[in-house]
Amino acid sequence: MPAHTRADKAATAVVQVGPPPVTNKRPQRNHLIPSWVLKVTMAVTGTLWAAFIAIHLFGNLKVFQGAQAYNHYAHWLREAFYPLLPKLSVLWAMRVVLGLALLAHICAAAMIWWRGREARGPHRAKIRGARAWGAWLMPLTGILIGCFIVIHVLDLTLGLGIQSAGFAAPISDESFAYENLVASFRRPAMACFYSLVMLLLAIHVAKGFTTMASDLGAMGRRWRATLALIGGLLAVAILLGNGAIPILVLTGVLS
Ligand code: HEM
Repeated sequence: MPAHTRADKAATAVVQVGPPPVTNKRPQRNHLIPSWVLKVTMAVTGTLWAAFIAIHLFGNLKVFQGAQAYNHYAHWLREAFYPLLPKLSVLWAMRVVLGLALLAHICAAAMIWWRGREARGPHRAKIRGARAWGAWLMPLTGILIGCFIVIHVLDLTLGLGIQSAGFAAPISDESFAYENLVASFRRPAMACFYSLVMLLLAIHVAKGFTTMASDLGAMGRRWRATLALIGGLLAVAILLGNGAIPILVLTGVLS
């Protein structure tokens, strides 16, 4: 007979005693900044830096035209668009934008990494072998590139602490960027460090462009292939262009 009355229903109800059953579901967190905002931030700031790296690489190739051409380009950077704009204003605008972009890129990367770790929980499976290297590839290369930027600016822009013995700061109408670069790369440790970092940067950029395709939701095959191609071409250019300069100086081809 089906249970019709209240008393019947109460008698047939299943009473839960003790703590609720354990499930695999972790409580949902409402983050102040949604994860998609962090991913878009990484994509935009990464693209900004990739654009700067491509332009800087193009400028660095002037090294093959000799000291005069390279120094002229370095001097032009300081006075770009003068007298329309005050001297150094373009350079300072670029420094501020790149500095903020780098800060946002690092903060967003750290937050995404931390959220991924939290979401996998305390009993996450240990990944080993090639997959473990894959997981560490971007954070590790990113940290090393960050250290490189600091060393590079101290070495060739500010001439502080680790600069070569003959470092000369630019004067009002002349730059000595070529001489500083050659003096710096004559030091074997510095030349090897630069070339090694160019290899890491090439890997970071190539992988970064494929990750960006996923993060921006580029589902179409053509979009993904185009972004992977841009990243791949920039990576090869970094290796062949930037990576070659320290080696050519060290071996005496450039002097
Ligand atoms: C072999 C490769 C490279 C060479 C030969 C090189 C050369 C130079 C030189 C000569 C300067 C100083 C220009 C001046 O003060 O007149 C400079 C500045 C700079 N470079 Fe590089 N660079 C290389 C790679 C890179 C890479 C890969 C990055 C970024 C990831 C980078 C970021 C910068 C930055 C941020 C500055 C400072 C610009 C400023 O504030 O004045 N460089 N570079």
